Amino acid sequence: MTSTSHLIHAHGGELVQLIAPAERSAELKAHSREWPSWDLTPRQLCDLELLLSGGFSPLRGFMTRKDYEGVCHNMQLASGVIWPMPITLDIDEDFAKTLQPGSSTIALRDLEGVMLAVLHVEEVWQPDRQAEAKAVFGTASAAHPGTDYAVNRANPWYVGGKLEGVQEPSHYDFKALRLTPAELRNEFARMGWRRVVAFQTRNPMHRAHQELTFRAAKTVEANLLIHPSVGMTKPGDVDYFTRVRCYQLLLSKYPAGTVKLSLLPLAMRMGGPREAIWHALIRKNHGVTHFIVGRDHAGPGKDTDGKPFYGPYEAQELFKKHEKAIGVTMVPFNMMVYLENQDVYVPDNEVPQGARVLNISGTELRDRLNEGRDIPAWFTYGQAPGDGRPAGHHPRRRRRPQAPLLRARVLQRAPRHQHSPDRLCGFRDHQERRDCDLRSHRTVRFCTKTCAADD
Ligand code: ADX
Repeated sequence: MTSTSHLIHAHGGELVQLIAPAERSAELKAHSREWPSWDLTPRQLCDLELLLSGGFSPLRGFMTRKDYEGVCHNMQLASGVIWPMPITLDIDEDFAKTLQPGSSTIALRDLEGVMLAVLHVEEVWQPDRQAEAKAVFGTASAAHPGTDYAVNRANPWYVGGKLEGVQEPSHYDFKALRLTPAELRNEFARMGWRRVVAFQTRNPMHRAHQELTFRAAKTVEANLLIHPSVGMTKPGDVDYFTRVRCYQLLLSKYPAGTVKLSLLPLAMRMGGPREAIWHALIRKNHGVTHFIVGRDHAGPGKDTDGKPFYGPYEAQELFKKHEKAIGVTMVPFNMMVYLENQDVYVPDNEVPQGARVLNISGTELRDRLNEGRDIPAWFTYGQAPGDGRPAGHHPRRRRRPQAPLLRARVLQRAPRHQHSPDRLCGFRDHQERRDCDLRSHRTVRFCTKTCAADD
């Protein structure tokens, strides 16, 4: 295996990896019948996955109270290391009352009942969730998705302690694209990449994003990691099956060998400034040295009075203040806008005086997609799915919201036969093809429409 010791160190110094060796895993499984079980919620599953893989280094478990309080109020773990987001395991009161801090062990299970990890219980407490939301997200308003989750959706008790991993959570889609921090670090070492700039996104990528990533890579002379969050994102976002197809198509627009796509199982909180720092630390753990923060990074939208929760560049300001402690260099961007007479995208602080600029807001884009209206060619690459239109839909989930999309003109004209599966899916190698085979036949559906629409 290639050495990765020359790469940026993980946050806190060492890349944490919590999956126990095979012998210990077998021992944990054998004992699990003696322990109470907790069925992880989708958000807890995402958090667990990044804890086990070291994406959340230096964390070694769900936070105990001292770390939690430090993070909420000072953005610091008890060790003094910067960390902006509480990572807690919320449980209901009945379950909390059965636990003995210092002696209980919990078997953490996925939705199918498979034990993924054990938690050695150190502390159980009832947090002030309103205070948490105010400290972390700056608001007690339930219109903020992060606050709403913390206050209204999470369970009222927290349990903290160290984890021992038994196995990583299973995924049946895009397996070849889901690289852990250690795998991505190996990949960077193999390709000879030292300086890597990461682009976080929860949206389809359009021309503005591409220009932004090009500029970032060029400015800091780094290779580019497109690292979309595919855990939970903002309610109403385009599903990740569709987004991944869009990213895959976009890869061909970059010079060969300069860009890598990998998917991050992150449950976003939409925490704006704090979230930007958190995103950068997670990327640092994946071997990244630079991180793009554009306009309204991880923005939660507006409050009930129509006022944005955060200023458009508040994330950049907070990041700048803590850049040294974060250890990742920020690559900031102003709002990218389209200069009509030059057919280029530029940051709005570089627009020549008097020039006409165009832009489409996220809301406008979603409305156009849902209503099957055209997306202008200056905004996107024209054909599905490069324009971010879902080029198919998940047959079971999200059927209703996606249904109007299928009536969109671009999708209707797509012929649906005559290509070999390889051509349809555009796989670069057999492994990738295997990972996108009939086990997840919804993926094949996307491929069919994707390529058909390109014809
Ligand atoms: S986010 O929730 O992941 O931040 P999104 O996928 O829209 O949302 O944005 C990803 C990154 O690109 C963020 O850093 C965001 O600030 C930046 N970004 C998106 N669109 C623009 C734009 N038009 N101009 C400048 N930055 C942008």
